[in-house]
Amino acid sequence: MLDSSSIRVLMLGDVIGHPGMRALFSSLKILKKEYKSDFVIVNAENAADGYGLLPHQVDELFNYGVDAITSGNHIWQKEELYPFLDREDKLLRPSNYPKGVPGHGDCILESKGVKLAVLNLQGRVRMSVNCECPFVNGLKDIKRLKSLAKCIVVDFHAEDVTEKEALACYFDGKVSAVVGTHTHIQTADEKILANGTAYISDIGMTGPINGVIGSEPEAAIKRVFTSIPYKTQVLDEDAVINGVVIEIDTSNGHALSIERVTYKTGL
Ligand SMILES: [Fe+2]
Ligand SMILES: [Fe+2]
Repeated sequence: MLDSSSIRVLMLGDVIGHPGMRALFSSLKILKKEYKSDFVIVNAENAADGYGLLPHQVDELFNYGVDAITSGNHIWQKEELYPFLDREDKLLRPSNYPKGVPGHGDCILESKGVKLAVLNLQGRVRMSVNCECPFVNGLKDIKRLKSLAKCIVVDFHAEDVTEKEALACYFDGKVSAVVGTHTHIQTADEKILANGTAYISDIGMTGPINGVIGSEPEAAIKRVFTSIPYKTQVLDEDAVINGVVIEIDTSNGHALSIERVTYKTGL
């Protein structure tokens, strides 16, 4: 139950191309009402045809009612976005990219007089990226953010569930939630850890589900058979919206509940 001492945060998984954007456009208002969400955070690293995010899509997402945009390894694929990463406070790339790259990895949102910090981190296991340690750097971020907001949610963009669970346990009690993104497959392991941090290995995607993580299967199958990284195309079908809604006790920043969201748009 929502009450005056709690907030509800809707976090949605990676938006995949036009099907994902269409799904958000048609359904986000309904979802916000259904889940009584005070904040909406969406990972949009695949919104531009599966590869990156375009500046006009940033505006569209905010106009749909998204409060903050998180991302991951694909955020670098549209160079025209780079100035926006510096300019838009609520557009995040993982915080632990090397110093000097465009953008920033956290922001502060406010609703009902409550501040919520959003932190975006990226994993290093099986990710082929040269990021700083998400454990060490993330902890520094959290210490800084704690002075600004009691409630903190983390989008941990990572492949490996061992790394994801380890990070959640390392941050348990220090943040309200650690949710995984990047695999595009929603997992069924949502839980609240011993010290009050909500966790799920992956919240899934906002995209078409009858292909291979949102794409037409042909190229994905050819990749397996040939080891050639053929370019994949987003599957043109209705999208499913995957995510979680987390209720947080604003008196201490601990999670009260975490519930999976799977919403079929049926466009
Ligand atoms: Fe993704
Ligand atoms: Fe990713």
